Amino acid sequence: MRNWILLVVAVCATILAAAQQAEQQVAPPPAILLGAAWYPEQWPESQWESDLALMQKAGVRMVRVGEFAWVRMEPAEGQYDFGWLEHAIAAASKHGIYTVLGTPTAAPPAWLTQKYPETLRTKEDGTKDQHGNRQQFNWANPKYREFARNIAAQMAQRFGHNPYVIGWQIDNEYADQSFDPETKRQFQNWLKVRYGTLNNLNARWTTQYWSEAYTDWSQIPIQTGYGNPGLLLNWMRFVSDTWRSYQKNQIDAIRASADPRQFITTNTMGWFDGFDHYTVEQDLDLAAWDDYVGQGHLDPVRNGASHDLTRGFKRKNFWVMETQPGSVNWARINNSLDKGEVRAMAWHAIGHGADTVSYWQWRSALNGQEEYHGTIVGPDGAPVPLYDEIAQIGNEFAKASPVLAGTSPKSEVAVLHSYDSRWAIKWQKHNGDYDPVKEIVSYYGPLRAIAQSVDVVAETAPLSGYKLVVAPGLNVLSDAGAKNLIDYVNNGGHLVLGQRSAMKDADNTLFTERQPGPLAALLGGHVEQYYALEAPVPVEGSFGNGQGQLWAEMLSTKDAGAEVLMRYGVSNGWLDHQPAVISRKVGKGRITYIGAWLDDATMRNAAKWMIEVSGVRPAFGAVPEGVDVYPRYAADKTVYVLVNFAKTSQTVSLPKEMQDVLKGGAKKTVTLPRYGVAVLSAR
Ligand code: GAL
Repeated sequence: MRNWILLVVAVCATILAAAQQAEQQVAPPPAILLGAAWYPEQWPESQWESDLALMQKAGVRMVRVGEFAWVRMEPAEGQYDFGWLEHAIAAASKHGIYTVLGTPTAAPPAWLTQKYPETLRTKEDGTKDQHGNRQQFNWANPKYREFARNIAAQMAQRFGHNPYVIGWQIDNEYADQSFDPETKRQFQNWLKVRYGTLNNLNARWTTQYWSEAYTDWSQIPIQTGYGNPGLLLNWMRFVSDTWRSYQKNQIDAIRASADPRQFITTNTMGWFDGFDHYTVEQDLDLAAWDDYVGQGHLDPVRNGASHDLTRGFKRKNFWVMETQPGSVNWARINNSLDKGEVRAMAWHAIGHGADTVSYWQWRSALNGQEEYHGTIVGPDGAPVPLYDEIAQIGNEFAKASPVLAGTSPKSEVAVLHSYDSRWAIKWQKHNGDYDPVKEIVSYYGPLRAIAQSVDVVAETAPLSGYKLVVAPGLNVLSDAGAKNLIDYVNNGGHLVLGQRSAMKDADNTLFTERQPGPLAALLGGHVEQYYALEAPVPVEGSFGNGQGQLWAEMLSTKDAGAEVLMRYGVSNGWLDHQPAVISRKVGKGRITYIGAWLDDATMRNAAKWMIEVSGVRPAFGAVPEGVDVYPRYAADKTVYVLVNFAKTSQTVSLPKEMQDVLKGGAKKTVTLPRYGVAVLSAR
């Protein structure tokens, strides 16, 4: 017996040593990766080779595999088949391609939801979702979680030490909630933990209003869209916590077997507000998002803000896990991006701090809901016209990767973003055209144009590194957020609050101090009244003569130190000649309140003032209109990515001599055609 044990131990040790050795021999992936979503389960193995050879030729270094392939991995309950996946990973590796494995939980097999119907989500109208699309599962259901944990664990046991597997993606684009009675009970229990007593909950939600008071936890409904603002906000917090625990269930299963070098991420959807991403991202190693233009063309400002938003989740470089090879299939008009635009978009992402750009998808499934979606090769497996542009990106990523390794964006300006605030405004817009994301972008755009780098972070993020912090529409302000902002100003920072700021506390309850609530004393003034506007109103002062649109807040100053920078012109009588923008110096710091949604030209002047008064320096210097510049820093160098979005060719004078990473040589000027890209490195 003893000999047997010794033999088993010796064999295990040999296998382990071999595995470790194999791992040591595999070079780590390049810093910048071109990737593609590849679904080997949809094809006979005999076809893989030609796909992988074309990927290699295009410079693809990463495939994302496995998401949605649950029925192939577990064709019947408890029966697993991972052989094909192992072959696919090995086949890709032979072409220098690393794998990111997706857990397949966004697409449960029919046998699962048929046998355990409680795992299907209940829609808000009370009907059950059904098999045949995806995301039909109930994210709160314990049985579903058991299956999800199990498949993730099985995958991790098999591939957690595979040297070619560099990371994991949990599920795919978390989105849909379930409204079944069990989930409602979980929500009520969650509230119990948060509020302790019904008296407390009733008081904080002002439930004397409309006799909403609860005398039993089980009376509390689920409401979305219209309902008590405290209830609405807490449902979304519960949803966020439930996605977090849904995800943690799989993270724990993977971490139990996976090498620490394998990262864990999920792919989110830009501005999508279906859960609080700051909550859910806490347990991940890396933020990643799916960057789709849909109909139309790349809007570098709004899309750039989404990149910066995603970078702000973990406050470090991120991945573009999916992006469109030309066109999508789900917009009203699925136009293709222009020739050159896909490449410009890829570099735009890298400039904003992406370390990977991965296309969805490599090759279309021959059937299924997305037959028309853009791909890199056709159903015949031969390149589509875009292939060469993708190959150019692959070639350029390979060149730039060693130079970009270890670099990341760093900004002197932060724009604050809060899901609580966006939800609160969305539920009570007061002006139907008021869009909180547009409000954020209305500040972000002109600030980025001058500073050439902006971070987008939560109001509770560390702020001491910023010279300027701008909070557009920070409608809901928690105690922790208020303290963070007050400390920032007292320590010498410049805080600019945009319209609708600091109106409500963390229960979505109105502050008894007028806006900006806990920040009013620091500001030395407050909002006297707000007005939803049917038509623009004139504004005039330090930012020039312009207009306020959609929303106007009449401000007042209480403290002699508070200065009026802009006033309203003659409009509805109430606003006539009243303060629209006020600012107060606080020691070395400053706090400013902008009460009107300023038109673009006036906002540009406001941004100029904010930048100047805060001592922010542009990261690069003057560039022609339409040229964007994105800096990425390391201790010993700065790499600038330049993209020309103007319709015509543009020449950029560089502030000093720089190395041209893509074309080679030292340069003092570069000329970029439309959608042209330069990557420049400076010591
Ligand atoms: C994404 C999704 C992909 C694919 C793509 C098509 O939202 O994650 O699986 O469906 O859309 O644009």
